[in-house]
Amino acid sequence: MATPLIAGNWKMHMTINQAASLVLKIRDAIKGVHDVEVVVAPPFTALHHINYLLAETPIQLCGQDVFWEKNGAYTGELSPEMLKDVGCHYVIIGHSERRQHFHETDENVNKKLLASLKEGLKPILCVGESLEQRESGKAISIIRKQVAEGLKNVSHGHMKDVVVAYEPIWAIGTGKTAKPEQAEDIHNGIRELLYDMFNLEAVKETRLIYGGSVKANNIDDIMAQPNIDGVLVGGASLSAEEFARIVRFEKT
Ligand code: 13P
Repeated sequence: MATPLIAGNWKMHMTINQAASLVLKIRDAIKGVHDVEVVVAPPFTALHHINYLLAETPIQLCGQDVFWEKNGAYTGELSPEMLKDVGCHYVIIGHSERRQHFHETDENVNKKLLASLKEGLKPILCVGESLEQRESGKAISIIRKQVAEGLKNVSHGHMKDVVVAYEPIWAIGTGKTAKPEQAEDIHNGIRELLYDMFNLEAVKETRLIYGGSVKANNIDDIMAQPNIDGVLVGGASLSAEEFARIVRFEKT
């Protein structure tokens, strides 16, 4: 099985000082943990300082978004090369908040993903359905479309670096977690699609992680599902104590 991935998405929270204090507490609280990859995605303004603080630690840095061009007249954007330059190994792409508030399309998401892989950044492709889509029985077809279009033209060789995060929109920041079996069901659907699009060998290390109200008190049940390879944590990643407990999930 691939190494579990526990990632904290700090979203638009934390000044540089607050971010520094949080990451140092996380570093201390997860000392001695092994066989788990731990990733944090602070706001862009804090990346440089946190990269310096994280040197010599196993915690890896992640961008919260990226643009697909290498450079040029794109005011406000950051390229994959710039994220690498500031120490990022991962980048979140296509988060539902970006799709919703910034009108990102599957096509934009795909361009960002391809540009990131080309630069050696590992993309965390976020997909997920709204409550309305779930209630009308469309969840799996919506997600299959997001995954298929997001991963268009990705080479077999790059699939080991790709992470797919299933984040049902109705579970983000709401305190409503998908039941572990509901998440497992969607993860199975995504896994089957990956086998169709690529092949078993190419996607055996591709991790499928779950996001949406993951907390210290539900992590063990979530991680007990065979097809859940990790989690993308929002609110609970802003508390070092809570995030550390998530990182130290009970293996069953
Ligand atoms: P919450 O954990 O706050 O629900 O956020 C999930 C998320 O959007 C992570 O990217």
